Amino acid sequence: MFADPDVGQKLFKEKHCALCHKIRNPGTVFAPVCPGLQGVRHRHSKDWVRKWLKDPAAVWAGNGADVQDINARYFRYRGGKPKARKSFMATIIGKKVVLTNEEIEALIDYLWKL
Ligand code: HEC
Repeated sequence: MFADPDVGQKLFKEKHCALCHKIRNPGTVFAPVCPGLQGVRHRHSKDWVRKWLKDPAAVWAGNGADVQDINARYFRYRGGKPKARKSFMATIIGKKVVLTNEEIEALIDYLWKL
């Protein structure tokens, strides 16, 4: 499938990702509560990000290794003992932001360059 990182960069703004994520921050920084996306390709597989962007609520509920890693980073940054919490991304955008498979591939190509 054809995907273009320039398209991905545009989508990152149009689909409201940029409202929450500071792309220049590393993923150890959750400001205010959202992880920076630099080096995200080292934290997840493309396949995981595909699923996450399709349905963050379902992925979060699955509580797999990637979700636990996000949570561990979150509590390391914010302080406090790791505990179950709601996915902020799923709660706010949930099913409101619907991405096509092509849009997801373009976003991933963009994210993989950060
Ligand atoms: C309402 C704020 C918000 C919006 C909008 C949002 N995200 Fe997120 N995102 C988060 C938060 C917060 C997390 C951490 C998990 C959680 O609490 O949901 C996250 C996690 C992620 C992760 C995993 C990052 C890591 O370091 O492990 C990726 C990748 C991601 N988001 C991509 C996107 C993309 C692409 C968009 C636009 C389609 C987007 N997000 C829109 C808040 C948001």
